[in-house]
Amino acid sequence: MFPSPIIVAPMAGGTTTADLALAAQRAGAFAYAAGGYKSAEALSVHLAPLRAAGADFGVNLFVPRNTPLSVDDAAALARYRTELVVAAGRLGATVPEISPDFVDPRSQDFWDEKLELLLREPVPVVSFTFGLAPAAAVAALQGKGTRVVASVTSVAEALAAAETGVDALVVQHGNAGGHSAAFLPGAGPGAPTLVELVAQVRAAVGLPLAGAGGIGDAAAAKAVLAAGAEAVQLGTAVLRSDESGARGLHKDALADPAYSSTAVTRAFTGRPARALVNGFVREHSAGAPNAYPEVHFLTGPLRAAAAAAGDRESLNLWAGTAWQKAASGPVAGIIAGFLNEL
Ligand SMILES: Cc1cc2nc3c(=O)[nH]c(=O)nc-3n(C[C@H](O)[C@H](O)[C@H](O)COP(=O)(O)O)c2cc1C
Repeated sequence: MFPSPIIVAPMAGGTTTADLALAAQRAGAFAYAAGGYKSAEALSVHLAPLRAAGADFGVNLFVPRNTPLSVDDAAALARYRTELVVAAGRLGATVPEISPDFVDPRSQDFWDEKLELLLREPVPVVSFTFGLAPAAAVAALQGKGTRVVASVTSVAEALAAAETGVDALVVQHGNAGGHSAAFLPGAGPGAPTLVELVAQVRAAVGLPLAGAGGIGDAAAAKAVLAAGAEAVQLGTAVLRSDESGARGLHKDALADPAYSSTAVTRAFTGRPARALVNGFVREHSAGAPNAYPEVHFLTGPLRAAAAAAGDRESLNLWAGTAWQKAASGPVAGIIAGFLNEL
């Protein structure tokens, strides 16, 4: 299913550049383009160099929430907005009004348009995160020759994903940097380690698996492959690479001993995500509601102002638990470091 045991993860929000995906692919990895947050038009532009290179690559999409916020979550969102106004004011930013019946194409992450694009102009692989694509969408993509991958964080989610007819699964552990792929409520922390989680999912479903979350070196990758994964998916390990589009502030923070831990927080987007613990995480994790993507839009101007001001204490510094092993330099060197030892 995956042409390499090393997969470079899709990282939406600017980190995945076409250069990163192409350089990783040339170095022998399988790589994803990041479709999340982009309009169909922007995705088309992002994919052009990969299509032109004739590469075997994947495209990742966020599955949008299709239910309104609960009354409780909407109330918590309003309280959180008030809390953010003070923090935004310090940065000279304003916090937008987000009504609970928020209807904006961005709230569905341009889902229909992007699916239409990928059916009209097919790509080798499409992966989904934050939820399950409907079985009809999975079948339609497969009908165009696309292999379809779902992201899961537990055995229950793996079984549900298999029901939709996907070709493979990304099994993501809570050690992962960035957003959790979890979509079933009460899925809990799952297995204590990625190796155990992969072994559990391996025993429950017959699909090819890629393991992800907290893999910092070849030894960790080997253990995940030995547990039954066909490949490992790396995110944080390539965040500091030359081709990564992550902000300089983010790359520098990952290498700065001033940051000594990561935590899972909803403070930035309303969806659990692992980041370096900074002032914003400490100050706002407790008050942040379960409201993605509403919180993502609330904090957007604040994060932009923080970036412009060089204030990394208010930025979402996504990082997996193995962040201290993330190296700088060309991504080809990082990939070679893994492939040479597998
Ligand atoms: C900066 C960043 C952005 C990410 N964006 C996405 C994304 O757009 N789609 C996705 O499926 N996963 C995304 N992830 C999660 C990765 O797919 C993967 O599960 C994770 O990076 C693995 O853990 P690691 O970071 O410890 O290697 C992101 C991770 C990071 C660090």
